[in-house]
Parts: sequence; C-alpha cells; structure tokens
Amino acid sequence: MLKAPVPYTSSVEEIEDDEAQLAADLAKTMLAISRKTYEDTHEGLRSVHAKSHALLTGRLSVKPDLPPDLAQGLFAAPGDYPVIMRFSTTPGDILPDAVSTPRGLALKVIGVKGPRLPGTQDATTQDFVMVNGPAFQAPNARAFLANLKLLAMTTDRGGSAKVALSKVLRATEGAIESMGGKSTTLRALGGHPATHPLSETYYSATPYLHGPYIAKFSVAPVSEDLTVHGHDHLDIDENPTAIREAMQDHFAIMGGEWELRVQLCTDLEAMPVENAARVWPENESPYVAVATVKVEPQTAWSEARSAAIDDGMSFSPWHGLEAHRPLGSVNRLRKSVYEASARARGEREHKAMTEPTDTRNLFTDEPEEAQVYYP
Ligand code: HEM
Repeated sequence: MLKAPVPYTSSVEEIEDDEAQLAADLAKTMLAISRKTYEDTHEGLRSVHAKSHALLTGRLSVKPDLPPDLAQGLFAAPGDYPVIMRFSTTPGDILPDAVSTPRGLALKVIGVKGPRLPGTQDATTQDFVMVNGPAFQAPNARAFLANLKLLAMTTDRGGSAKVALSKVLRATEGAIESMGGKSTTLRALGGHPATHPLSETYYSATPYLHGPYIAKFSVAPVSEDLTVHGHDHLDIDENPTAIREAMQDHFAIMGGEWELRVQLCTDLEAMPVENAARVWPENESPYVAVATVKVEPQTAWSEARSAAIDDGMSFSPWHGLEAHRPLGSVNRLRKSVYEASARARGEREHKAMTEPTDTRNLFTDEPEEAQVYYP
C-alpha cells in the first residue's frame, strides 16, 4: 500500500543566509567558462551542456483519468501540446564525443495555461531540464560550486588529454559497474559509458512542486524503436560526432515515444528536498506516467535547428507554472545563473532569446510540413 504524498509547506525548504552570494559566485564561475569558449570559438555557447546532439519537435499528451494526486499543474487535465526536445552532453566546451559525459535532455512544452513563475509571465512554456541520473552530483549549491570551480579550470584545456583521461575513466567506471556499482563523479569527469541517448531515462534529479505536493520527474523511453538502443555501444573513439550522427540516423527513418513520469514525495526523511544528491527510493514511491511524448521521423540536427534552438532559446527549470516551482537550494540558485548564462549567449550571438508560441516555421531550411508534428 503506497503512502499518501507529503503536502508542501515552506518548512521543507531551508533557505541559507548566503544564497545570494552563492548564486553570484556560481554565475561568475559559469560565465568564466563561456567567456573562455567565446574567446576560442567566437560562439556564444552555454556554460554547460554546450554541445547538442538532437533538436526535435514533437507532441506531449497528458493522460486522461489521472488520480487527483497526480493531476496537478500541466497535468491537471488531458490535453495535447507541441514540444521541443534538446539532447546534450554536459561540458561547456564542444569536445569530441570520446570525452564521454552524462547526457542531458531539455524539454519545452508550449501553450501551457495557469499562474506562472516570476519573470515568465509573457510566455506559455513549461520547461523540464534533466540529466540521465536520478540524483544530482552534489547535495547542495555550495558543494556544486566547489566541483564547478575545478571543472572551470579545465575549460578548453587539452582536448586530447581529456580524450585520453576519458578512456581511462570509462575503463574504471566499466570495472565498477561490472561489480554492480556506479560512480557519478567518474561519469561527470568523462567516464560515462558510450550509451545511446535514446536508450536513457532522464531525471529532474531535484524536486519540484507538484500542485500542493512535492515531486521529482523523469522522461523514459517506452517504444521499442528507442529501447532497442540499449544494446548499442556508440563508436565514440573513432568519430567525434558519433552521438549526433546516431541520432540523425535514427530519426531519418524512425520516431519514438517516451513517458513523462512523476515520483511523489511520500516521506521527507527518505525523500529530502534539501539534499539533491539523494536518490528517492522507487520501492517507496515509484515514478508514475502522467503524459506521453511522441516524435515522428525528422531531421534530428541541422545548422538551422541549431541556430533556432541552441542559439535562440533557453531552457530553465524556472520557465513554467507556479504549480511546478523548483525546490531546494540547487534549484533556487539555478534561476539567476541560467538567466545570466542565456543573457551572455544572446549578447555574444546578437540574438534575443525567444520563448516559442508554436513549433511551426522554426527552422528556415526545412519545408513547413517537414517541421511539425502537430496535435
Ligand atoms: C546549482 C546547480 C546548477 C547550476 C548552477 C546550473 C547551471 C546551468 C547553466 C548556466 C546552464 C546553461 C543555461 C543557458 O545558457 O541557457 C545549464 C544548462 C543545463 N543544465 Fe544546469 N545547472 C545546475 C543544476 C542542474 C541540474 C540539477 C540538472 C539536471 C537535473 C541540470 C541540467 C542541465 C541541462 C540539461 C542543461 C542544458 C539545457 C539546454 O539544453 O538548454 N543542471 N545549467
């Protein structure tokens, strides 16, 4: 028998006195990364997750007849929405795929109605920003800042050294995994196995409001054309864009279906809000499907898609509904840092960030009918 979800009260969050200073330090470190890559490439890149591997349009359908605990915010009523999906890997510099790092997925749902988070009143989007692990690499923003400072020092230094290091780390991680373990740190540093991004489940890792409750969410592949890639081992040592090409090959002939799932917090001890490094136990509260995301075959990546989505858009956990407000120190501090990173990109690219209202005519090089899969 599953326990009832814990209602949110402000006491589940512990706001520290120096969070404004921490946010400023995080933004400074993030901007130092993108300043370095701008000097080297003259491109306004994201401070992290700079390299995209697939940029897709599709459709999200909220499931009918959801139980009241789950039917909250965007999921309160059945409905269909256009979506944009951006698959990425974590570094802030554009490295060969042989430097194998965690995979990211940002999902932008368009046309959402309801009271909105501060600063996004004019938009109708709900973003979900995820990585392929159920918890974050650091428990709180302070610990993450320490990791980030180390990472920032390595930006754009020694691409070939990073490739060599990644091979060693992948071998070490492989040995750990063969004994049933997994090291988030080794994976973040380049020891991620050469998995296909379409076989991965992506997680919010950090908690969010879910109406009056608290939840994490995930996006998991469910159609066989996606899950079959679980057997793939990409040729990342030979091909610097192996991941992007694997995505292009897939979507040239196939589509895919994912489930968007919600894990409600049913016990604050086992599922804390202020420790983002804790995996919430699925045997106590499973991830339950609240929507599906479907995409049709399409051009998975092109320069025009990259100009529109990589350069012209930003994805942030703070773009969305008040009913899905990000919780916990890691999430609270992301607001101003994502804004600062996106602002710097826009200035460098001389391009305003836009929040889309539609997925029609997003890409200038594709005929209109090829671009959209519209409800
Ligand atoms: C304090 C913690 C964090 C900070 C400071 C941070 C910072 C950033 C920044 C500056 C960007 C680039 C934003 C832009 O230029 O548009 C970014 C992107 C991203 N972050 Fe975070 N992040 C944090 C935590 C997380 C967590 C917990 C996740 C996942 C669960 C995550 C996943 C991603 C992904 C997938 C992107 C790429 C989004 C896209 O495709 O545009 N980050 N992050």
